[in-house]
Amino acid sequence: MDKKALLELSNGLKIELPILNGTVGPGVLNIKDLYRTTGLFTYDPGFVSTASCSSAITFIDGDEGVLKYRGHSIADLAENNNFTAVIYLLLHGELPNLEQHKKFLLKIEKLSKVPEQVVNVIKAFPKTAHPMSILITCFASLSALYHERHGNNVNSEDLDFGISAIAQVPAIVAMIYRHINDQEFINANNELSYSENFLRMMFGDAFDNAKSALFAKALDKIFTLHADHEQNASTAAVRLVGSAGSSLFASLSAGVATLWGPTHGGANEAVINMLKEIEQSGDIDKFIEKAKDDKDPFKLMGFGHRVYKNYDPRARILKNACNEVLGKLEQSSELLKIAKGLEKIALKDEYFVTRKLYPNVDFYSGIIMNAIDIPSNMFTPIFALARTTGWVTQWYEMANDKETKINRPRQLYVGK
Ligand code: ACO
Repeated sequence: MDKKALLELSNGLKIELPILNGTVGPGVLNIKDLYRTTGLFTYDPGFVSTASCSSAITFIDGDEGVLKYRGHSIADLAENNNFTAVIYLLLHGELPNLEQHKKFLLKIEKLSKVPEQVVNVIKAFPKTAHPMSILITCFASLSALYHERHGNNVNSEDLDFGISAIAQVPAIVAMIYRHINDQEFINANNELSYSENFLRMMFGDAFDNAKSALFAKALDKIFTLHADHEQNASTAAVRLVGSAGSSLFASLSAGVATLWGPTHGGANEAVINMLKEIEQSGDIDKFIEKAKDDKDPFKLMGFGHRVYKNYDPRARILKNACNEVLGKLEQSSELLKIAKGLEKIALKDEYFVTRKLYPNVDFYSGIIMNAIDIPSNMFTPIFALARTTGWVTQWYEMANDKETKINRPRQLYVGK
């Protein structure tokens, strides 16, 4: 029998609210008709207790530290599949067989050419621009091409547009990097895998074969771990913009803008800057104390998560990947030592323990990218590159969902 919750108001009115059950996860109180039946809204700043949609893409159990894409555990995907198979899985719901994967790679290749208009947008930026500001503009610029084909109509059938975003974003991010570093662009090499190709478009032939293979494997893992994360802030932004009927690329541009913030994807850049500051000061304890001081706005970057109240499974995989990359490079990294030291102290400290603050995905990813010599201002664009797959998948799900309405929250008015 379906469960219900009973709401009794002070005026004696009683209403039953249905409790919806997903495939797994907690029950969800359906308040869709609350305003119509009672004249009351709900108040939930930051959407701490609010599900904004139903979705069949990604599942997180934050208490148990579980993350699954389309029912596949993140550890299995990161260790036993490559990123293009994961893209296919997210978009189509199943991992591809060999034939499907081959065809999909050809499609990515076919759709990967970055239009001249976008190349010119990148070149128009000053070299001092933050790469995320350029990336926002590149997606906004691509919306003009979508508009030419579909006008202002959301076309939820035309998946090729979504795949073209995923296919073009590595070249766009690599071009942004080379532009701000005053280097010539490097053409794609479609003989290479998605991650190898990206590494080559960024750095050309800077690495020998062994290093290229090691770094491409690590990046592939980073891409897989960042590909989707249910209704996080940037994905919610993509869905919100799309819910108004705006095009895929206009929505993606909002996703990149949201990801840039340091409490979201911008944390990976902030973590490495923080670790470098700690290295310079040589005083981990001072930073722990600052993070605990409620009068100090400083937070331990890469720690804490709205959903995970347990170790973020992505951080665990990346910590191992850090050890592997640095081990194979025979490098000892002071930053990795500091990160592990910080984690050790925080995981024993009452402040962090009682608030269930654990390392998140951004805590270790930057150390790997640092070992590849990727500058820290490129960390968030690389996150955006990977998350483009999630945004695209979620946008199509939103556009095909008959329950989608324009996302229009209400407010508690406290003004004059
Ligand atoms: N360092 C110190 N204290 C923290 C931290 C932190 N990193 N994170 C949370 N807290 C404290 C808060 O001050 C609060 O304390 P209080 O109860 O005494 O007021 C308590 O823990 C609960 O934190 P909230 O801010 O309510 O948690 P929320 O879910 O709103 O925020 C967030 C989650 C934004 C991730 C937060 O933990 C944070 O800012 N972390 C650092 C930035 C970061 O790493 N962001 C990346 C997140 S992963 C991603 O988006 C890819």
